[in-house]
Amino acid sequence: EDDRLIDPFGREITYLRVSVTDRCDFRCTYCMAENMTFLPRRDLLSLEELERLCKAFMDKGVRKLRLTGGEPLVRKNIMSLIRALGAEIETGRLDELTLTTNGSQLTRYADDLAAAGVRRLNISLDTLDPAKFHEITRWGDYDKVMAGIDAAQHAGMKIKINTVGLKGFNDREIPSMLRWAHGRGMDMTVIETMPMGEIDADRTDQYLPLSKLRADLEEEFTLEDIPFKTGGPARYVRIAETGGRLGFITPMTHNFCESCNRVRLTCTGTLFMCLGQEDAADLRAPLRASEDDRLVREAIDEAIGRKPKGHDFVIDRANRPSVGRHMSVTGG
Ligand code: GTP
Ligand code: 5AD
Ligand code: SF4
Repeated sequence: EDDRLIDPFGREITYLRVSVTDRCDFRCTYCMAENMTFLPRRDLLSLEELERLCKAFMDKGVRKLRLTGGEPLVRKNIMSLIRALGAEIETGRLDELTLTTNGSQLTRYADDLAAAGVRRLNISLDTLDPAKFHEITRWGDYDKVMAGIDAAQHAGMKIKINTVGLKGFNDREIPSMLRWAHGRGMDMTVIETMPMGEIDADRTDQYLPLSKLRADLEEEFTLEDIPFKTGGPARYVRIAETGGRLGFITPMTHNFCESCNRVRLTCTGTLFMCLGQEDAADLRAPLRASEDDRLVREAIDEAIGRKPKGHDFVIDRANRPSVGRHMSVTGG
């Protein structure tokens, strides 16, 4: 047994993404169907169990944790987990603890998050038009999200706005969103939509290759490639006109799997070795089998030993997702 996680392709795993709940207070149309069946609560790991698993990964060299969902901040009592994990930044075992959130709960949680050691947040926002926001999230509260962004900035956290590029929905709006984000000192990343889970819409209609978006942006802005890295999959440019950073996440047109450093844990203790693959490992049984972490560490080693080379996403089969589970199960 080694204390580092190296996969069969020589990639070291140092980044764990944890989906703490599959539930969400929104129903973004590219992410979920309107009527979703969520996991029964009895199948969830407790927050203490999730903490134990996160720490087992830290024992094996994970230095970056991101809590996702669903919406991570709708999980009851979530601050207790965040505080416990944030304490590991103080001990030097963790470099970063962060969240990907829809922003709806930030007026309530921003100060607590900052106090717990969260320095940076990724906030998902696909439009600045309140009517379109309502359309894409189905019933999201735009004003609450805006107030949440204010609260997060006020609490001193760095923010990155995550925008999924959707053809005919927000492609023409990206320049103004970019000016808005950069004007407020926030980074932005645009993301290619991935065919995960049954939704009520057609993926091929929504799909926007970011090469197209980049070419459009170049008519209006000067984009300079920069080596900036966060440990995530985005490739960054600096926009000369605003001075801000823009990241491109292009799983479909420009695969970044060769430098993958991450795996994903779900709220039921399932470990997915790749976002775009069905193969998984169960960590709940070894976790519950004994108080000692030896079995868990063995299960983690075994899982990393079969991490696939890359994802299987393809956008050419209308309404047939390449990966059956929804994004909200795995947490992006
Ligand atoms: P940073 O720490 O800010 O770099 O965040 P991140 O990009 O790692 O995380 P975030 O939650 O903001 O993810 C943004 C988008 O990137 C989401 O749509 C994720 O699904 C996608 N993403 C993150 N990691 C991977 C990956 O390994 N494979 C694929 N296909 N998509 C990913
Ligand atoms: N393709 C790409 N990104 C998606 N997200 C949710 N569903 C999809 C999808 N099918 C994004 C959310 C959030 C991040 C975690 O994943 O908008 O920013
Ligand atoms: Fe909720 Fe995020 Fe999915 Fe939208 S993209 S439904 S905010 S989990």
